[in-house]
Amino acid sequence: MNYILAIESSCDETAAAVLKDGKELLSNIVATQIDIHKTYGGVVPEAASRAHLLSVRPVIEQAMQQAGINYQDLSAVAVTYGPGLAGSLLVGVNAAKGLAAGLGKPLIGVNHIEGHIYANWLLETEPLFPALCLIVSGGHTDLVLIKDHGLYQRLGGTLDDAAGEAFDKASRVLGLPYPGGPSIEKAAQNGKAFLKLPRAWLKNTYNFSFSGLKSAIVRAVQDGDIVNAQDGAASFQEAVCDVLIKKTLDAAQRYQVKNILLAGGVAANKALRHGFTNQSSVVVFRPPIKLCTDNAAFIAAAAYQKYLKEQFADNSLDVCPNLKLI
Ligand code: KG4
Ligand code: ZN
Repeated sequence: MNYILAIESSCDETAAAVLKDGKELLSNIVATQIDIHKTYGGVVPEAASRAHLLSVRPVIEQAMQQAGINYQDLSAVAVTYGPGLAGSLLVGVNAAKGLAAGLGKPLIGVNHIEGHIYANWLLETEPLFPALCLIVSGGHTDLVLIKDHGLYQRLGGTLDDAAGEAFDKASRVLGLPYPGGPSIEKAAQNGKAFLKLPRAWLKNTYNFSFSGLKSAIVRAVQDGDIVNAQDGAASFQEAVCDVLIKKTLDAAQRYQVKNILLAGGVAANKALRHGFTNQSSVVVFRPPIKLCTDNAAFIAAAAYQKYLKEQFADNSLDVCPNLKLI
């Protein structure tokens, strides 16, 4: 029996999860800090690390209690060590190091982006290689070809804003509440995408750019072209999803992948999820919304592959705020 306890604290969610045999989720606890940061309209790093400090222990205890196993039953302790906010990452990494050392269990350091990808291994069927993953989060927008476990080729990514960042900025411009992504999605449901906003196709590359779109929406609000936030949200969401979907499908065909995987907070967006369903001939994996946004279950799923290869960290594991996937 393999039991991995994973801890995630890279941004504004303190999370812990226990995964059995790489597949069966025994617990998945997420303590969100939305109420703290919404006053400021964005994540305040200092406030985030303080909140992690307060919640990390109860969150771990709750995850273990819900899993119904003892600490000694654990096969390993896994933790996100980057990318993310340094002060936030430190809380999780120190908790994991202390636990692993105290229990005499292996420690596994996980890249947060790799974690997002591995949400797709928590579904009923496993993805087939080669797979293409569209990673769309608050800090990242990447198209990654996955040839095997841990074998990545980055085909392209954003040249400026990440998709989630664009959602958050557009939401602010439209006067919608924090957090931006879910607000845009909700507003768009009652709006019409009548405004044709620019799409940066960046032809013959798998790169993305969302800064022009952001400027266009600012201008449209200033010029009075957007009469209500709902229509603005619908137009913006359509422009982002259009580019993400078409470029991903193009890469999927070119690289003859067996599956497309969606990952990251923006993959929670229903317009994006449904857009793929309607247009793709390749099977698209869409993790449940709870596994798209930050959690520790996907960190445990990524850690399981490292456990099998005995890729363990030692007590010198440090946070790496700018950690890259490739
Ligand atoms: O992956 P994630 O939870 O954290 C990072 O690793 O960044 O992604 C957070 C991002 C935020 O920008 C948030 O606005 C966006 O994902 N997001 C969404 C939705 N839910 C979260 N964007 C669009 N539609 C959503 N439903
Ligand atoms: Zn994330």
